Amino acid sequence: MNLLRPNIRDMKGYVPGFQPDDVASWIKLNTNENPYPPSPKVMEAIYEELGADGASLRTYPSASSSKLREAAGELYGFDPSWIIMANGSDEVLNNLIRACAGEGEEIALVHPSYSYYATLAEIQGARVRCFGLTADFRIADFPERYEGKLFFLTSPNAPLGFAFPIAYVEDLARRCDGLLVIDEAYADFADGTALELVKKYDNVVVTRTFSKSYALAGMRLGLAIARPEIITALDKIRDHYNLDRLAQAACVAALRDQLYFRDCCARIRETRDWFTLELTAIGYDVIPSQGNFVFAAPPDKNGKRVYDGLYGKKILVRLLSDPLLAHGLRISIGTRKEMERTLAALREIG
Ligand SMILES: Cc1ncc(COP(=O)(O)O)c(C=O)c1O
Repeated sequence: MNLLRPNIRDMKGYVPGFQPDDVASWIKLNTNENPYPPSPKVMEAIYEELGADGASLRTYPSASSSKLREAAGELYGFDPSWIIMANGSDEVLNNLIRACAGEGEEIALVHPSYSYYATLAEIQGARVRCFGLTADFRIADFPERYEGKLFFLTSPNAPLGFAFPIAYVEDLARRCDGLLVIDEAYADFADGTALELVKKYDNVVVTRTFSKSYALAGMRLGLAIARPEIITALDKIRDHYNLDRLAQAACVAALRDQLYFRDCCARIRETRDWFTLELTAIGYDVIPSQGNFVFAAPPDKNGKRVYDGLYGKKILVRLLSDPLLAHGLRISIGTRKEMERTLAALREIG
């Protein structure tokens, strides 16, 4: 059909992780969701926002997510003018490309990392440059000066789980002429964050999601932190009512319940480290992870065989289509009980 832009007509489109209808009958470890529910304060806030008869839904929500940006600013130590809220961090990743890269202009990403960046660039008509990784998880052949419009750095890396040291990220920030977008979707499970670099460098943007550590994947919530000039530009592009009322109320409540949040992250980290040791003991090659998942390869390096075996036992993990990753699986960290059952299944599958 020649009504379409050629890049849209010809593109494949991103394939998100499988979301089964009968989710309760699976151990679901394929999209890095949180195995625990969100803070109980979240439910209270949603009901309060709805009111007795749901009348609040008649009127539009705050277009600027003002209370939420204040709550996030307080937590992360930034003025709200440095924060933009997003309908899932995917929304703001998209808008960052739209704001910076015109048709034919270059953006860059690390391979492997979150494959959605390339899809977003394709929609925009931007060119994509891929930087590979060295054996010790540094970026291969990164130029002294990178002149592209934007560079996506996922840290902790997904799907591999390692994190780049902050001093290394800082060096990259100095070498980028365009924006350095640090996707910290998994930073709440990690030992460090690059947030301080946002204050130090005017080209650094940090994005976060509430889908993982705050257990709010179903509400679609994310944010970006950057200089107000960048935030103002992103504000012009987003849908003006991008976050609904319930999502805004839920997120404020989740952010304010730091006790619950910290406990939940600590449990997941503990289970991750235990699972890593156990998997290693049965011969798996596991990359030490700073996220809420591990990338692990079975002794025969046949990810598909193990994926099928787990699938048959109603355990869903992620087999990535990238040939570079076919030797292993990305396994989200569930509850301790779910991971014990997964480990037992892996022992049986052999
Ligand atoms: C690295 C990375 N960035 C961003 C996202 C998107 O998160 P959200 O649910 O906030 O759109 C994901 C989701 O899996 C991710 O793995």
